[in-house]
Amino acid sequence: MSNTFQPYLAKLGEAIENEPFGQHPKELYEPIRYILKLGGKRLRPMLALLAYQLGKDDWESILKPAMAVEVFHNFTLMHDDIMDEAPIRRGQPTVHKRWDENIAILSGDAMLVKAYDLLLDVEPKLLPAIIHMFNKCAVEVCEGQQIDMNFERRSDVTVEEYLEMIRLKTAVLLGMSLRLGGTLAGLPQKDTELLCTFGEKIGVGFQLKDDLLDVFSDKKKFGKQVGGDIIANKKTFLLINALKIAEGETARILTDWIAKKDFDKEQKVKAVTAIYEQLAIRQLTDKVIQDYFDQGYQALASIDIPDSRKAPLKEFADYLYHRDK
Ligand code: IPE
Ligand code: IPE
Ligand code: MG
Ligand code: MG
Ligand code: MG
Repeated sequence: MSNTFQPYLAKLGEAIENEPFGQHPKELYEPIRYILKLGGKRLRPMLALLAYQLGKDDWESILKPAMAVEVFHNFTLMHDDIMDEAPIRRGQPTVHKRWDENIAILSGDAMLVKAYDLLLDVEPKLLPAIIHMFNKCAVEVCEGQQIDMNFERRSDVTVEEYLEMIRLKTAVLLGMSLRLGGTLAGLPQKDTELLCTFGEKIGVGFQLKDDLLDVFSDKKKFGKQVGGDIIANKKTFLLINALKIAEGETARILTDWIAKKDFDKEQKVKAVTAIYEQLAIRQLTDKVIQDYFDQGYQALASIDIPDSRKAPLKEFADYLYHRDK
Protein backbone atom coordinates (compact mmCIF):
# COMPACT_ATOMS: atom_id res chain seq x y z
CA MET A 1 0.00 0.00 0.00
CA SER A 2 1.19 3.51 -0.73
CA ASN A 3 2.83 5.62 1.96
CA THR A 4 -0.11 8.05 1.87
CA PHE A 5 -1.98 5.79 4.24
CA GLN A 6 0.75 4.91 6.73
CA PRO A 7 0.02 7.72 9.24
CA TYR A 8 -3.64 6.73 9.43
CA LEU A 9 -2.86 3.03 9.80
CA ALA A 10 -0.23 3.75 12.44
CA LYS A 11 -2.66 5.82 14.53
CA LEU A 12 -5.43 3.28 14.12
CA GLY A 13 -3.11 0.46 15.13
CA GLU A 14 -1.99 2.40 18.19
CA ALA A 15 -5.56 3.29 19.19
CA ILE A 16 -6.67 -0.34 18.88
CA GLU A 17 -3.66 -1.54 20.84
CA ASN A 18 -4.39 0.94 23.65
CA GLU A 19 -8.10 0.28 23.86
CA PRO A 20 -8.83 -1.37 27.24
CA PHE A 21 -11.35 -3.98 26.19
CA GLY A 22 -11.26 -5.73 29.56
CA GLN A 23 -9.29 -8.38 31.48
CA HIS A 24 -11.40 -10.92 33.37
CA PRO A 25 -12.31 -13.54 32.49
CA LYS A 26 -9.39 -13.79 30.12
CA GLU A 27 -11.22 -16.26 27.84
CA LEU A 28 -13.62 -13.46 26.96
CA TYR A 29 -11.10 -10.71 26.30
CA GLU A 30 -7.98 -12.44 24.96
CA PRO A 31 -9.66 -13.48 21.69
CA ILE A 32 -10.69 -9.85 21.13
CA ARG A 33 -7.12 -8.63 21.41
CA TYR A 34 -5.93 -11.65 19.42
CA ILE A 35 -8.10 -11.07 16.36
CA LEU A 36 -7.59 -7.31 16.39
CA LYS A 37 -3.83 -7.64 16.72
CA LEU A 38 -3.71 -9.83 13.63
CA GLY A 39 -4.51 -6.62 11.80
CA GLY A 40 -5.97 -7.09 8.38
CA LYS A 41 -6.32 -4.25 5.94
CA ARG A 42 -8.34 -2.02 8.29
CA LEU A 43 -10.13 -0.74 5.27
CA ARG A 44 -13.42 0.21 6.91
CA PRO A 45 -11.96 2.66 9.45
CA MET A 46 -9.68 3.95 6.69
CA LEU A 47 -12.75 4.72 4.58
CA ALA A 48 -14.33 6.53 7.54
CA LEU A 49 -11.21 8.65 8.12
CA LEU A 50 -10.75 9.47 4.44
CA ALA A 51 -14.43 10.39 4.03
CA TYR A 52 -14.14 12.68 7.06
CA GLN A 53 -11.23 14.40 5.36
CA LEU A 54 -13.47 15.48 2.52
CA GLY A 55 -14.83 18.03 4.96
CA LYS A 56 -12.40 18.40 7.85
CA ASP A 57 -8.71 17.91 8.54
CA ASP A 58 -8.59 16.83 12.19
CA TRP A 59 -9.14 13.13 11.43
CA GLU A 60 -7.49 12.04 14.68
CA SER A 61 -10.56 13.36 16.50
CA ILE A 62 -12.71 10.55 15.04
CA LEU A 63 -10.43 7.60 15.72
CA LYS A 64 -12.91 6.08 18.22
CA PRO A 65 -15.95 5.93 15.92
CA ALA A 66 -13.61 4.76 13.12
CA MET A 67 -12.44 1.98 15.45
CA ALA A 68 -16.06 1.12 16.14
CA VAL A 69 -16.53 -0.05 12.55
CA GLU A 70 -13.33 -2.10 12.71
CA VAL A 71 -14.36 -3.75 15.97
CA PHE A 72 -17.80 -4.46 14.50
CA HIS A 73 -16.17 -5.95 11.38
CA ASN A 74 -13.94 -8.20 13.50
CA PHE A 75 -16.97 -9.35 15.49
CA THR A 76 -18.61 -10.43 12.22
CA LEU A 77 -15.45 -12.26 11.20
CA MET A 78 -15.26 -14.16 14.50
CA HIS A 79 -18.80 -15.44 14.02
CA ASP A 80 -18.42 -15.86 10.25
CA ASP A 81 -15.47 -18.19 10.81
CA ILE A 82 -17.64 -20.45 12.99
CA MET A 83 -20.39 -20.47 10.35
CA ASP A 84 -17.92 -21.12 7.51
CA GLU A 85 -15.88 -23.63 9.57
CA ALA A 86 -12.80 -21.64 8.63
CA PRO A 87 -9.53 -22.81 10.18
CA ILE A 88 -7.32 -19.83 9.35
CA ARG A 89 -7.72 -16.06 9.36
CA ARG A 90 -4.95 -13.55 8.70
CA GLY A 91 -2.44 -16.39 8.64
CA GLN A 92 -3.30 -17.64 12.14
CA PRO A 93 -5.79 -20.11 13.64
CA THR A 94 -9.31 -18.73 13.88
CA VAL A 95 -10.65 -17.99 17.37
CA HIS A 96 -12.98 -21.01 17.48
CA LYS A 97 -10.06 -23.28 16.53
CA ARG A 98 -7.55 -21.75 18.90
CA TRP A 99 -10.03 -21.62 21.78
CA ASP A 100 -13.49 -23.08 21.10
CA GLU A 101 -16.81 -22.17 19.53
CA ASN A 102 -18.47 -20.96 22.72
CA ILE A 103 -15.58 -18.60 23.34
CA ALA A 104 -15.80 -17.28 19.78
CA ILE A 105 -19.53 -16.68 20.18
CA LEU A 106 -19.23 -14.84 23.46
CA SER A 107 -16.12 -12.82 22.62
CA GLY A 108 -17.85 -11.82 19.41
CA ASP A 109 -20.91 -10.70 21.37
CA ALA A 110 -18.71 -8.61 23.66
CA MET A 111 -17.05 -7.03 20.62
CA LEU A 112 -20.40 -5.93 19.28
CA VAL A 113 -21.09 -4.19 22.58
CA LYS A 114 -17.62 -2.62 22.58
CA ALA A 115 -18.26 -1.29 19.08
CA TYR A 116 -21.25 0.64 20.45
CA ASP A 117 -19.14 1.91 23.34
CA LEU A 118 -16.67 3.35 20.86
CA LEU A 119 -19.47 5.01 18.91
CA LEU A 120 -20.53 6.88 22.05
CA ASP A 121 -17.51 9.11 21.49
CA VAL A 122 -19.29 11.14 18.79
CA GLU A 123 -20.85 14.56 19.35
CA PRO A 124 -24.07 13.97 21.33
CA LYS A 125 -26.26 15.76 18.82
CA LEU A 126 -25.11 13.40 16.05
CA LEU A 127 -25.55 10.24 18.12
CA PRO A 128 -29.17 9.32 17.22
CA ALA A 129 -28.46 9.57 13.47
CA ILE A 130 -25.27 7.58 13.86
CA ILE A 131 -26.81 4.82 15.96
CA HIS A 132 -29.58 4.64 13.38
CA MET A 133 -27.20 4.19 10.43
CA PHE A 134 -25.09 1.72 12.39
CA ASN A 135 -28.11 -0.38 13.38
CA LYS A 136 -29.54 -0.42 9.87
CA CYS A 137 -26.21 -1.61 8.54
CA ALA A 138 -25.63 -4.18 11.31
CA VAL A 139 -28.95 -5.90 10.78
CA GLU A 140 -28.43 -5.91 7.01
CA VAL A 141 -25.10 -7.68 7.53
CA CYS A 142 -26.98 -10.34 9.54
CA GLU A 143 -29.54 -10.65 6.74
CA GLY A 144 -26.76 -11.09 4.20
CA GLN A 145 -25.01 -13.68 6.34
CA GLN A 146 -28.21 -15.71 6.76
CA ILE A 147 -28.91 -15.58 3.02
CA ASP A 148 -25.32 -16.71 2.38
CA MET A 149 -25.93 -19.71 4.66
CA ASN A 150 -29.28 -20.46 2.99
CA PHE A 151 -27.55 -20.47 -0.41
CA GLU A 152 -25.19 -23.29 0.65
CA ARG A 153 -28.18 -25.60 0.40
CA ARG A 154 -29.42 -24.36 -2.96
CA SER A 155 -28.04 -24.87 -6.48
CA ASP A 156 -30.41 -22.54 -8.33
CA VAL A 157 -29.11 -19.24 -6.93
CA THR A 158 -29.18 -16.51 -9.58
CA VAL A 159 -26.53 -13.87 -10.15
CA GLU A 160 -29.04 -11.20 -9.08
CA GLU A 161 -29.78 -12.99 -5.80
CA TYR A 162 -26.07 -13.40 -5.19
CA LEU A 163 -25.33 -9.72 -5.86
CA GLU A 164 -28.01 -8.65 -3.39
CA MET A 165 -26.65 -11.11 -0.80
CA ILE A 166 -23.13 -9.69 -1.00
CA ARG A 167 -24.46 -6.14 -0.99
CA LEU A 168 -25.97 -6.98 2.38
CA LYS A 169 -23.24 -9.09 3.97
CA THR A 170 -20.31 -6.93 2.83
CA ALA A 171 -21.01 -3.78 0.83
CA VAL A 172 -23.35 -1.97 3.23
CA LEU A 173 -20.61 -1.86 5.88
CA LEU A 174 -18.22 -0.13 3.50
CA GLY A 175 -21.01 2.27 2.56
CA MET A 176 -21.84 2.96 6.20
CA SER A 177 -18.18 3.54 7.12
CA LEU A 178 -17.99 6.25 4.47
CA ARG A 179 -21.33 7.73 5.44
CA LEU A 180 -20.18 7.82 9.06
CA GLY A 181 -17.01 9.73 8.18
CA GLY A 182 -18.92 12.15 5.98
CA THR A 183 -21.61 12.72 8.59
CA LEU A 184 -19.06 13.39 11.32
CA ALA A 185 -17.42 15.96 9.02
CA GLY A 186 -20.79 17.69 8.60
CA LEU A 187 -21.08 17.09 4.85
CA PRO A 188 -24.49 17.74 3.29
CA GLN A 189 -26.80 14.75 2.98
CA LYS A 190 -26.53 14.57 -0.80
CA ASP A 191 -22.79 14.02 -0.41
CA THR A 192 -23.07 11.41 2.35
CA GLU A 193 -25.58 9.58 0.09
CA LEU A 194 -23.08 9.58 -2.76
CA LEU A 195 -20.34 8.42 -0.42
CA CYS A 196 -22.57 5.56 0.64
CA THR A 197 -23.24 4.63 -2.99
CA PHE A 198 -19.51 4.78 -3.70
CA GLY A 199 -18.94 2.39 -0.77
CA GLU A 200 -21.69 -0.04 -1.73
CA LYS A 201 -20.49 -0.27 -5.33
CA ILE A 202 -16.84 -0.82 -4.49
CA GLY A 203 -18.06 -3.08 -1.67
CA VAL A 204 -19.76 -5.42 -4.13
CA GLY A 205 -16.58 -5.33 -6.24
CA PHE A 206 -14.59 -6.03 -3.09
CA GLN A 207 -16.61 -9.15 -2.20
CA LEU A 208 -16.40 -10.39 -5.79
CA LYS A 209 -12.65 -10.03 -5.49
CA ASP A 210 -12.76 -11.88 -2.15
CA ASP A 211 -14.55 -14.76 -3.88
CA LEU A 212 -11.94 -14.73 -6.63
CA LEU A 213 -9.02 -14.67 -4.20
CA ASP A 214 -10.59 -17.53 -2.25
CA VAL A 215 -9.81 -19.71 -5.28
CA PHE A 216 -6.95 -17.98 -7.05
CA SER A 217 -4.49 -16.70 -4.52
CA ASP A 218 -1.21 -17.37 -2.92
CA LYS A 219 -1.94 -19.20 0.33
CA LYS A 220 0.80 -17.37 2.23
CA LYS A 221 -0.36 -13.93 1.18
CA PHE A 222 -4.10 -14.60 1.43
CA GLY A 223 -4.00 -15.66 5.09
CA LYS A 224 -7.16 -17.78 4.75
CA GLN A 225 -7.73 -21.35 3.64
CA VAL A 226 -7.55 -21.26 -0.15
CA GLY A 227 -10.57 -23.08 -1.61
CA GLY A 228 -12.69 -22.74 1.53
CA ASP A 229 -15.66 -21.57 -0.54
CA ILE A 230 -15.36 -24.60 -2.85
CA ILE A 231 -15.24 -27.00 0.09
CA ALA A 232 -18.38 -25.43 1.61
CA ASN A 233 -20.32 -25.25 -1.69
CA LYS A 234 -20.58 -21.49 -1.28
CA LYS A 235 -22.69 -20.01 -4.02
CA THR A 236 -20.07 -17.54 -5.08
CA PHE A 237 -20.10 -15.56 -8.30
CA LEU A 238 -17.62 -18.10 -9.62
CA LEU A 239 -19.71 -21.18 -8.89
CA ILE A 240 -23.01 -19.64 -9.99
CA ASN A 241 -21.51 -18.73 -13.35
CA ALA A 242 -19.73 -22.05 -13.76
CA LEU A 243 -23.02 -23.86 -13.16
CA LYS A 244 -24.64 -21.60 -15.75
CA ILE A 245 -21.98 -21.99 -18.43
CA ALA A 246 -20.81 -25.58 -18.02
CA GLU A 247 -22.13 -28.15 -20.45
CA GLY A 248 -21.95 -31.93 -20.97
CA GLU A 249 -19.19 -33.78 -19.13
CA THR A 250 -17.91 -30.62 -17.40
CA ALA A 251 -21.37 -29.84 -16.02
CA ARG A 252 -21.71 -33.42 -14.79
CA ILE A 253 -18.33 -33.38 -13.02
CA LEU A 254 -19.12 -30.05 -11.38
CA THR A 255 -22.55 -31.09 -10.09
CA ASP A 256 -21.09 -34.40 -8.87
CA TRP A 257 -18.51 -32.57 -6.76
CA ILE A 258 -21.21 -30.34 -5.32
CA ALA A 259 -23.39 -33.32 -4.41
CA LYS A 260 -20.58 -35.36 -2.80
CA LYS A 261 -20.90 -35.74 0.96
CA ASP A 262 -17.58 -37.52 1.52
CA PHE A 263 -14.62 -36.17 -0.36
CA ASP A 264 -10.99 -35.31 -0.15
CA LYS A 265 -10.95 -31.52 0.30
CA GLU A 266 -7.78 -30.96 -1.69
CA GLN A 267 -9.07 -33.06 -4.60
CA LYS A 268 -12.35 -31.17 -4.72
CA VAL A 269 -10.63 -27.79 -4.67
CA LYS A 270 -8.28 -28.88 -7.45
CA ALA A 271 -11.07 -30.28 -9.62
CA VAL A 272 -13.43 -27.32 -9.26
CA THR A 273 -10.59 -24.82 -9.76
CA ALA A 274 -9.67 -26.59 -13.00
CA ILE A 275 -13.26 -26.24 -14.20
CA TYR A 276 -13.23 -22.51 -13.36
CA GLU A 277 -10.01 -22.16 -15.39
CA GLN A 278 -11.48 -24.12 -18.28
CA LEU A 279 -14.58 -21.92 -18.35
CA ALA A 280 -12.60 -18.65 -18.04
CA ILE A 281 -14.51 -17.74 -14.88
CA ARG A 282 -11.62 -15.67 -13.60
CA GLN A 283 -11.75 -13.35 -16.61
CA LEU A 284 -15.52 -13.05 -16.34
CA THR A 285 -15.31 -12.16 -12.64
CA ASP A 286 -12.54 -9.63 -13.25
CA LYS A 287 -14.75 -7.80 -15.73
CA VAL A 288 -17.64 -7.54 -13.27
CA ILE A 289 -15.31 -6.37 -10.48
CA GLN A 290 -14.04 -3.63 -12.76
CA ASP A 291 -17.60 -2.67 -13.60
CA TYR A 292 -18.59 -2.26 -9.93
CA PHE A 293 -15.49 -0.25 -9.11
CA ASP A 294 -16.21 2.00 -12.10
CA GLN A 295 -19.75 2.58 -10.85
CA GLY A 296 -18.29 3.47 -7.47
CA TYR A 297 -15.82 5.92 -9.02
CA GLN A 298 -18.68 7.59 -10.85
CA ALA A 299 -20.50 8.20 -7.57
CA LEU A 300 -17.31 9.60 -6.04
CA ALA A 301 -16.75 11.82 -9.08
CA SER A 302 -20.20 13.36 -8.72
CA ILE A 303 -19.56 14.58 -5.18
CA ASP A 304 -19.20 18.33 -5.44
CA ILE A 305 -15.81 18.65 -3.74
CA PRO A 306 -12.48 19.41 -5.48
CA ASP A 307 -10.77 16.33 -6.96
CA SER A 308 -7.61 17.03 -5.00
CA ARG A 309 -9.52 16.44 -1.76
CA LYS A 310 -11.07 13.25 -3.09
CA ALA A 311 -7.75 11.87 -4.39
CA PRO A 312 -6.86 9.81 -1.28
CA LEU A 313 -10.25 8.04 -1.37
CA LYS A 314 -9.78 7.26 -5.05
CA GLU A 315 -6.26 6.02 -4.36
CA PHE A 316 -7.49 3.82 -1.52
CA ALA A 317 -10.21 2.31 -3.69
CA ASP A 318 -7.59 1.63 -6.39
CA TYR A 319 -5.53 -0.22 -3.82
CA LEU A 320 -8.57 -2.36 -2.92
CA TYR A 321 -9.16 -3.05 -6.59
CA HIS A 322 -5.61 -4.26 -7.12
CA ARG A 323 -5.19 -6.13 -3.83
CA ASP A 324 -3.96 -9.70 -3.73
CA LYS A 325 -4.96 -10.46 -0.12
C1 IPE B 1 -13.10 -10.09 5.01
O1 IPE B 1 -12.88 -8.73 5.06
C2 IPE B 1 -14.57 -10.32 4.95
C3 IPE B 1 -15.17 -9.81 3.73
C4 IPE B 1 -16.14 -8.97 3.75
C5 IPE B 1 -14.70 -10.27 2.43
P1 IPE B 1 -11.46 -8.11 4.79
O2 IPE B 1 -10.88 -8.65 3.51
O3 IPE B 1 -11.56 -6.64 4.91
O4 IPE B 1 -10.60 -8.69 5.98
P2 IPE B 1 -9.41 -8.03 6.80
O5 IPE B 1 -10.02 -7.19 7.86
O6 IPE B 1 -8.55 -7.24 5.85
O7 IPE B 1 -8.67 -9.20 7.37
C1 IPE C 1 -17.93 -12.57 5.02
O1 IPE C 1 -17.88 -13.11 3.77
C2 IPE C 1 -18.74 -11.38 5.21
C3 IPE C 1 -18.89 -11.10 6.66
C4 IPE C 1 -18.03 -11.44 7.56
C5 IPE C 1 -20.06 -10.40 7.08
P1 IPE C 1 -16.84 -14.30 3.66
O2 IPE C 1 -17.25 -15.47 4.47
O3 IPE C 1 -16.55 -14.52 2.21
O4 IPE C 1 -15.54 -13.64 4.33
P2 IPE C 1 -14.16 -14.38 4.52
O5 IPE C 1 -13.73 -14.86 3.17
O6 IPE C 1 -14.40 -15.50 5.49
O7 IPE C 1 -13.23 -13.33 5.05
MG1 MG D 1 -19.04 -16.26 5.23
MG1 MG E 1 -16.01 -16.69 5.75
MG1 MG F 1 -14.61 -15.06 1.42
